Amino acid sequence: MHYYDIQGIQLTELAEKFDTPLYVYDANKIIEKIGILRDSFKDVNIKIKYACKANTNLSILKLMRKHGVEIDVVSPEELRLALMAGYEGAQITFTPSGVSFDEIELAAEIGARINLDNLDVLEAFGKLYGNKKGALIRIKPHVFGGGNEKIMTAHPESKFGISIHQKDQILEIVKKYDMKIIGLHQHTGSDVKNADAFTQAASAILEMAKDFKDLEIIDLGGGFKVAYKDGDITTNMAELGAVLSSAFLNFCQEYGRPLQLWFEPGKFLVSEAGTFLTTANTVKKDPIKTFVCVNSGLNHLGRPMMYGAYHDIFNASNQDDSQQDDYRVVGYICETDTFSWSAEGQQSERRMNTVNKGDIIAMKNAGAYCFSMSSQYNSRIRPAEVLVINGEAKLIRRRENFDDILRNTVEVDV
Ligand code: LLP
Repeated sequence: MHYYDIQGIQLTELAEKFDTPLYVYDANKIIEKIGILRDSFKDVNIKIKYACKANTNLSILKLMRKHGVEIDVVSPEELRLALMAGYEGAQITFTPSGVSFDEIELAAEIGARINLDNLDVLEAFGKLYGNKKGALIRIKPHVFGGGNEKIMTAHPESKFGISIHQKDQILEIVKKYDMKIIGLHQHTGSDVKNADAFTQAASAILEMAKDFKDLEIIDLGGGFKVAYKDGDITTNMAELGAVLSSAFLNFCQEYGRPLQLWFEPGKFLVSEAGTFLTTANTVKKDPIKTFVCVNSGLNHLGRPMMYGAYHDIFNASNQDDSQQDDYRVVGYICETDTFSWSAEGQQSERRMNTVNKGDIIAMKNAGAYCFSMSSQYNSRIRPAEVLVINGEAKLIRRRENFDDILRNTVEVDV
């Protein structure tokens, strides 16, 4: 179902007021998703750690914090943003992949919880801190789950985490330095369609956890599947919550004390809260196709081109469903940046209410991995971002300008 307003403010009004291209986020939707996740795991001691790589706007981070959500970061810069949003060190988890030990030390000194993802950093952490600082270990459980191969992270060939088959080596290092391993972590992948992948990964981690004596946390990552279009399979949170909670509570009983269950969702919390507004620069009628050329491209929203991701697209300027046509929605970048592209074997055309030049073309599910993955390719500036909160639309990031394109350029005589 399409929507033409966010908290009563028309999308066209937002486009007019803030100009396009524009990212708009609905705070109510984010708050609703936090509630669903909490309710699904109400029987256990759950902590939600927002995987902020999905959307790092400071106001979004502050909103998460206000609603009791903690944070997962993957770089020193995300760590700084988390601190700016008001998080304390201990509320931040640092889950980097293959970084230098300097970054890990920096985060540990701030008091962040660290997910160690290879034997080298496990050893370095042990050598430096012994049992003085606790850490979590990221395990690769050899499970297949995720929307496409590029976003599957727990299978045997994935670069992420320490293979579950290296348990003996892990235990050896932990023993050698008398380390305090406070948690085991795993992240299956993103867009995980098959709920079995979560339960398989959880049971592998819980089985392994029996060999660690100081655990306080089991961190099962993120990856809950959200709907990108009507009828999409999504993760049934109530069912998953029941199954995982019961496995977790059984484990805690066997382990002899209560533990915390952590999740780090990104998409689940923010994907559906975002709408990307663009303007149709022209409607180009070709003998075989009709292209809608919008004032944006893969520089702003690259998911369809990178992953064949499906984003629902509709004409926010025309609510008359009686006259429709098939359109291929494309960007202005000098690449084949087709927003309406789909890897699912469908045509790259979308049926939309008649589009005229100047109409506002809206793309859904634009809250996660859209702005945060944007670039200045073709020397194009990045869009502005707006948060609709308590019925009011607030600018939370200004549109870039030419100075941003030139920033850090050093001009030399050649
Ligand atoms: N935890 C870890 C360790 C992760 O690597 C990720 C995502 C998450 C949690 C959150 O996953 P989510 O709940 O958002 O699925 N750019 C891709 C997705 C990359 C995900 C990277 N890691 C996309 O647009 O589909």
